[in-house]
Amino acid sequence: MKIGIVIGSVREGRLGESIGAWVAERARSQVDATDVEWEVLDVKAFNLPIMADENWAQAEDGPAEVHRWRDAVAECDGFVFVTPEYNRNIPGAFKNAFDLLSRQWRDKTLAIVAYGGLGGVRANEAWRFTVASYNMHVVGDSVNLIRRVDFPGGTLALTDHHDASLVKVLTRLVSLTRAVTTERERTAAASG
Ligand SMILES: Cc1cc2nc3c(=O)[nH]c(=O)nc-3n(C[C@H](O)[C@H](O)[C@H](O)COP(=O)(O)O)c2cc1C
Repeated sequence: MKIGIVIGSVREGRLGESIGAWVAERARSQVDATDVEWEVLDVKAFNLPIMADENWAQAEDGPAEVHRWRDAVAECDGFVFVTPEYNRNIPGAFKNAFDLLSRQWRDKTLAIVAYGGLGGVRANEAWRFTVASYNMHVVGDSVNLIRRVDFPGGTLALTDHHDASLVKVLTRLVSLTRAVTTERERTAAASG
């Protein structure tokens, strides 16, 4: 099984990169799941265009950046969205990356690591109703990091509490992904 850790902020000086690195390191070292490969998918590194054609992902002549993104997402069975909150919502670049694809998200799983002034709670909730479009299965608990408390001086200050809450969420994601992947593959095989 493969789980993609998606870093959704793309601005210069973003906190998202360090949060994504923390999630990846703890996932690989502290979650008891030898059958899971964790891969960081950094939206910034894909250099995606603004979605101007909903068929780009499927079209043979669609942009190469979109096709690389499509293939990376398609290979994953589940995801961790590392999401900031911008203007009380999902950041535009992250939403664009999501909107560029469709079937590659369908019937997969998600856990959310959100951050912002109030822990990114509104972006967290916005993702939950957004991903319902593709019948994604979302872990109920999430990690919420509060900028003033958890980033004193502008860098992530980790505690045992952060690690414990992250590992709990990731462990639940792995269990959910195992069940959902089995069912997705069974349904696909049954429908030929
Ligand atoms: C355009 C913009 C809008 C923001 N709006 C909110 C907001 O509505 N609520 C909030 O809690 N934080 C807000 N913030 C603060 C961000 O959550 C915080 O700066 C966070 O570090 C951004 O993530 P990043 O560093 O990975 O880009 C905003 C930041 C930016 C740049």
